[in-house]
Amino acid sequence: MYIIADKKIFNPTINTNNMERREVLKTLGISMTLLGTGLFTACTGKEEVKVGKKEISQKNTPPPKPVSLRDKKIVNRDKHAIKDPENPTKAELKHTPEIAIGEANEAGFSEIKITIGQQGIIHPTTDAHWIDFISLSADEKLIGKVEFEIGAASGYATFRVKTEGINTLTAVSGCNLHGIWQSTKELK
Ligand SMILES: [Fe+2]
Repeated sequence: MYIIADKKIFNPTINTNNMERREVLKTLGISMTLLGTGLFTACTGKEEVKVGKKEISQKNTPPPKPVSLRDKKIVNRDKHAIKDPENPTKAELKHTPEIAIGEANEAGFSEIKITIGQQGIIHPTTDAHWIDFISLSADEKLIGKVEFEIGAASGYATFRVKTEGINTLTAVSGCNLHGIWQSTKELK
């Protein structure tokens, strides 16, 4: 019997040199393995399916969002509150929202003015230290949120809200260095 492998003719019945024999057997083994893999792929198509799935999953994975300079500068998201309401510190007053409610207009919307902070102690606004957001909720349901760019605006926002039927308004502020602060005002 003669077996053709890699342009060499191997006759197992002939007593050839041992080194040459091993080389031919090795080549034959690799060829048979490759042939086997090809046949399996052709019969099942499994490899193509696997590759296809990999391509789809790669396409569906969104690229990571670049971190903005603003995000890098927001370093504190801890929640804070005035510890002693009878004796608030200057730092506590400077960060706590003050809520002022105006008269309702003909359509029933009242102007809700939110200033950070209280008793005229206003939070500073610089490129290194600023109020980065203010939000307003009615009866613990979010009405709106304003985000501020680095040092772009003072910590102040106004909302027009239909206050009829609302019991409480809660304003929340975020200082990029000193975290999250809130205050609540009863309407009834
Ligand atoms: Fe601050």
